[in-house]
Amino acid sequence: METKPIDGKAFAAGLRARIADEVAALKRDHGLTPGLAVVLVGEDPASQVYVRNKAAQTAEAGMASFEHKLPVDTAEADLLALVARLNADPAVHGILVQLPLPAHMDATKVIAALDPAKDVDGFHVVNAGRLAVGLDALVPCTPLGCVMLLKHHLGKLAGLNAVVVGRSNIVGKPAAQLLLREDCTVTIAHSRTRDLPGVCRQADILIAAVGRPEMVRGDWIKPGATVIDVGINRIPKDDGKTRLVGDVAYQEAQGIAGLITPVPGGVGPMTIACLLQNTLTAARRQAGV
Ligand code: GUN
Repeated sequence: METKPIDGKAFAAGLRARIADEVAALKRDHGLTPGLAVVLVGEDPASQVYVRNKAAQTAEAGMASFEHKLPVDTAEADLLALVARLNADPAVHGILVQLPLPAHMDATKVIAALDPAKDVDGFHVVNAGRLAVGLDALVPCTPLGCVMLLKHHLGKLAGLNAVVVGRSNIVGKPAAQLLLREDCTVTIAHSRTRDLPGVCRQADILIAAVGRPEMVRGDWIKPGATVIDVGINRIPKDDGKTRLVGDVAYQEAQGIAGLITPVPGGVGPMTIACLLQNTLTAARRQAGV
């Protein structure tokens, strides 16, 4: 069986272009410019790269981008005060506090302080709850991107067996909720699952979101299955440099999977595109248009 790669980079570029068109129309017809505020505390190198990319793509889509960089020793109370100011600022429709936060801060408390209407990460319990009960919600960006790719490549997902490996609040749990909303039969597997390879082999759709390099082996994949690899793991090479690998052994999956997202270039580019989509959605809802 030939295994086809899913080109998330190209799909994300198309999505960003559609968003830019919609932003231009919002400005023209309603005088509304969607605004996204990104808050970075400290100098984690990976987070700095993400935040730079987010700011650049927000501006490219024609949105207003507000960056707030705070020193690593910022008091939690000062971060909460900034969140309160952004909640009250009518030019800001979306707020993203980059995670992880420094150890002296409680991420749960900071997320709880966000106005749920501006929570473009979809991490607030109000948004998680609304997703779970089937109400309009802001949905976490990475799982939203995964399901967009699946619907684009597979069409209707109803009745398919979906196995999500990983139960994080950021990816695993919301991915399972979204797949349930598409009428999949959903299993959430995790580190305590018995016979994980056997459970994965039942999957028509296999989503790997565990953060362990190449954990999902080729013989865990049902022939013809669609594999979505959310992992981004940096591992050392023989020459002292590093390379990126996913949570799935990509080479082993060749000839077994029907479709698979590569790392990089699969799910990764979809995350920021979906963040822009959420910011647009949040701006429209706040303005009532
Ligand atoms: N850190 C890594 N990915 C993300 C994300 O999607 N949102 C936030 N807030 N922080 C992150």
